Amino acid sequence: MKVSVGKLTDLPDGRGVRVETAGHRIAVFRLGDAAYAIGDRCSHAEASLAEGELFDMDVECPRHGSEFNISTGQPNSFPATQPVPTYEIELVDGEVFLDLEPVEEDE
Ligand code: FES
Repeated sequence: MKVSVGKLTDLPDGRGVRVETAGHRIAVFRLGDAAYAIGDRCSHAEASLAEGELFDMDVECPRHGSEFNISTGQPNSFPATQPVPTYEIELVDGEVFLDLEPVEEDE
């Protein structure tokens, strides 16, 4: 299922917003003309990654400082060791659509 999260230009650039819909809690990040979406719950102790600070493509968990890549969901630093899910974003005429099915990783 795809949901609109509004116009790309209405999202804060270089920061995250939390999207809660249909039982999902997803962190959406805008970086200029692009947007990325990962699970909002940190895989370590469930802090909100949308509230973390963004450093290029990595968001720092506000609770214990693990960094997650907002494209792959992989943690780059401890204490988190497990990835968070990633979600597909589609941009249509400047509007951001989020696919609520997480992207399956090929092992
Ligand atoms: S809750 Fe995110 S690193 Fe601990």
